[in-house]
Amino acid sequence: MLTQTASPTVAEPCSRLSPDAGQGGPSKLCLGGGLPSADVRLRANGGTRVILDHMPGEPQKTFYLETFGCQMNAHDSEKVVGTLLSEGYRQVQTVEEAELVLYNTCSIRDKAEQKVFNRLSDYKKFYKQGKRFGVLGCVAQQEGEKIFERAPYVSLVCGSASYRNLPQMLIQIEAGKQRVTGLDDRETDECFETEFTARTNPHRGYITIIEGCDKFCAYCVVPFTRGKERSRTSDSVLSEARQMADLGYTEIQLLGQNVNSYKDPAGKKSFAELLAAVGEIAGIRRVRFTTSHPRDFGRDIIDAIDAVPTLCDHVHLPVQSGSERVLDAMQRLYTRDEYLERISWMKAARREISITSDIIVGFPGETEVEFEETLSLLDDVEYDSIFGFKYSPRPNTPALKLDDAIPDEEKARRLAMLNEKQREIQRRRYQRYLGTTLEVMVENRNEARGQWSGRTSQNKVFNFTAPEDAKPNVGAYVTVMTTGTFPNSLLGELVV
Ligand code: 5AD
Ligand code: SF4
Repeated sequence: MLTQTASPTVAEPCSRLSPDAGQGGPSKLCLGGGLPSADVRLRANGGTRVILDHMPGEPQKTFYLETFGCQMNAHDSEKVVGTLLSEGYRQVQTVEEAELVLYNTCSIRDKAEQKVFNRLSDYKKFYKQGKRFGVLGCVAQQEGEKIFERAPYVSLVCGSASYRNLPQMLIQIEAGKQRVTGLDDRETDECFETEFTARTNPHRGYITIIEGCDKFCAYCVVPFTRGKERSRTSDSVLSEARQMADLGYTEIQLLGQNVNSYKDPAGKKSFAELLAAVGEIAGIRRVRFTTSHPRDFGRDIIDAIDAVPTLCDHVHLPVQSGSERVLDAMQRLYTRDEYLERISWMKAARREISITSDIIVGFPGETEVEFEETLSLLDDVEYDSIFGFKYSPRPNTPALKLDDAIPDEEKARRLAMLNEKQREIQRRRYQRYLGTTLEVMVENRNEARGQWSGRTSQNKVFNFTAPEDAKPNVGAYVTVMTTGTFPNSLLGELVV
């Protein structure tokens, strides 16, 4: 599954870049030439810039969109923004300025879900002024029409499987319809493919290759909110990747709840073959993919990383628990040993592969001994980073029926122990880079610290200084010497 974050998606001129939406920062929208005005310029997937025929002087409909959750949501929002722009809307940066206020929501844990209801109640006062509110994404799909009861001023409730019908839904809202829904498409075989994607970064972009999930892990709400698993054809993915390369993108991240469960509907390419083919496109320098499921993780993925240098040396492989019994109760479909076998393939790769993971503590019935098995797995794998979560009971999921809930304080204690142990592992692992040089893709400048920031191919954050006469450009690939290490980042100096 995917990294979680909360980020307002706002329009910004291209020259001002921000951290990756999926890495915790606010995502800024790059529209190939600045804020859209009367004449909206949209970078379409078609490789050309489409000039939408909005008449100068004509009042434009405005919208505000805030995004919560994972990279999948961040990228869905890029497509939703593109769709709205193509329907003649203009994106604004505050709720106050907007006629239509949209929240693209996450329901993976209770806390994420609460955030959207807090937002809605903060802004309901604006309903009387004629603003319309819409809830999109996982909370919309999960709660459905109940949202209208809880927040009667909401006009639109739409799950991600229904986004392709957004233009028709917008027409209904504009016509004054009070309750518009898009909730009935979870069984669809179609992905949300749109020719308009308002990407948030001109150098690095996402491509969804598979939507939905059929795994039904006992704790997880995703199969209920994002619907059944469906893949795009490899031809369609490759043509989008080529168009991005033509537009100057150098880094592509393939996205899916389980990218490696990818099945080409045309039967042409396996996931590993698709990965390699994207990596071989001229102009593409880095290809990432997230998230992989251990059950479907084949050796051919490592072979592809070995064979194609543009495939990044980083694999995110969520384990969730180190205990055999808990893995079984979670319905994860692999054993600890099978997981460790996949880790051993990665450790035998030609390049050192950075391995990261997601872990849940306090799953119902998890004993102290079982939790310690998770701690011992950290020692066995030596991850480069983990995302640890306290188990959060979710609607509809099989784990709701399990007894032996673990008290919140105990979950918090286990999470703190997990993070502390991992911090020590990272402190040790990162020290190995001291005195070595690494290639960094420059992402932004931190004026206050007088530093530049970027990421290595292994996805490690690298902060560095550069001489006045050799300032790097955002999006450039530079060589940096490591002069300091921390548990979560590297520090260095540009090599000129
Ligand atoms: N409680 C806590 N964490 C969860 N995740 C998914 N569902 C839950 C839940 N109910 C975590 C998993 C997943 C990550 C994105 O979120 O670790 O990999
Ligand atoms: Fe990932 Fe399992 Fe949730 Fe599917 S059900 S999205 S595999 S955690």
